[in-house]
Amino acid sequence: AAAHKIAVLSGDGIGPEITDACLKVLTAAARAEGEELVYTEALIGGAAIDATGDPYPAETEQICKSSDAVLLACIGGYKWDSLPNAQRPEKGLLRLRSSLNAFANLRPAVVLPQLADASTLKREVVEGVDIMIVRELVGGIYFGEPRGFEERNGERVGFNTDVYSESEVERISRVAFEAAMKRGKRLCSVEKSNVLEVSQLWKEVVTRVAEDYPEVELSHMYIDNAAMQLIRNPKYFDTIVTGNIFGDILSDEASMLTGSLGMLPSASISEPGKPGIYEPVHGSAPDIAGEDKANPLAMVLSAAMMCRYGLGLPRVAQRLEAAVTAALDAGYRTGDIMQPGCSQVGCRQMGEVVLQQLEKAFAKA
Ligand code: NAD
Ligand code: IPM
Ligand code: MN
Repeated sequence: AAAHKIAVLSGDGIGPEITDACLKVLTAAARAEGEELVYTEALIGGAAIDATGDPYPAETEQICKSSDAVLLACIGGYKWDSLPNAQRPEKGLLRLRSSLNAFANLRPAVVLPQLADASTLKREVVEGVDIMIVRELVGGIYFGEPRGFEERNGERVGFNTDVYSESEVERISRVAFEAAMKRGKRLCSVEKSNVLEVSQLWKEVVTRVAEDYPEVELSHMYIDNAAMQLIRNPKYFDTIVTGNIFGDILSDEASMLTGSLGMLPSASISEPGKPGIYEPVHGSAPDIAGEDKANPLAMVLSAAMMCRYGLGLPRVAQRLEAAVTAALDAGYRTGDIMQPGCSQVGCRQMGEVVLQQLEKAFAKA
């Protein structure tokens, strides 16, 4: 088989630590299936600002565009927090998503049985939760114009615009209905149509697209209620479709059902033929960066999503996911998911434990 080209963007904070752990495991899983992965590292975020002055340098864009998939850790940090917007690490990430037109962000929140007690919610509430959040990623208030600062009535104001076109809502809706078809066939569209025109259009278009998916049961929920229901009765949800900012917030919230933000992977899919971006939901965790405390499993699971959705290597994905569960079964936990009776390990050691489980499974087969 031909080698798969992967752009690796380790970014900032805990990024380099989790990337290290992830690549060792990913390489071993691919080798076990006789697949060759070629990694090209590139700069993004604060690391890119320090080296080039630009959070998404042209060289990085070129490397990403000519790869089969982009594997990203995380960006951001205190050091760059007071720079103007265009020079912030976050802008690099937004430009990356935009330049690849990675409009569909799939954020699964699955409660693994091993971690049902790691959640701050009761076991009976979270046990068996399996939600797919489909978040629109290259539109909405993150990108809407006009935006900026100006002087109004003698004081400064800051403003943004939440805007979606029919075609933008239609394409994300189709991805969500397709995802729902492969899952529990229930889709909940989350918006704020009791107040916002952008949400009224959203709801209309989703309802129209639903006619093409008669097997999917569509429901509508306001974002404030959805935020509440996600905690009250998360098992109500199967697939959720929502806009950029609501999806950002709901996915962090959903992470606490699973035990930790350090467990949540994501895939950002573009149109066919273009590379997708595979990244953990979490950020650069500057509070624990450089301390070997980070949980690398969200990134390992993101690499699994990359193999499944981006590279057509479902068997490599299965190996990665099985090795993660085996490491948890063996009782290893990073601090964020630590439970009584388990062995606490750091980032590097968690990577090694997952690798051992992978090799054990390979030796058995
Ligand atoms: P964060 O996700 O970085 O951290 C939130 C909390 O979760 C912190 O206490 C952190 O220690 C913990 N955490 C996150 N990932 C973890 C992991 N893998 N293992 C263990 N604990 C983990 O969010 P924040 O603190 O709000 O933001 C920090 C920086 O990251 C900011 O600059 C922000 O803009 C950026 N950010 C980047 C991304 C991304 O790259 N996709 C996502 C979110 C935030
Ligand atoms: C995420 C992050 C990003 C977002 C930021 C860092 C731009 O929070 O990936 O969830 O808001 O999309
Ligand atoms: Mn976020």
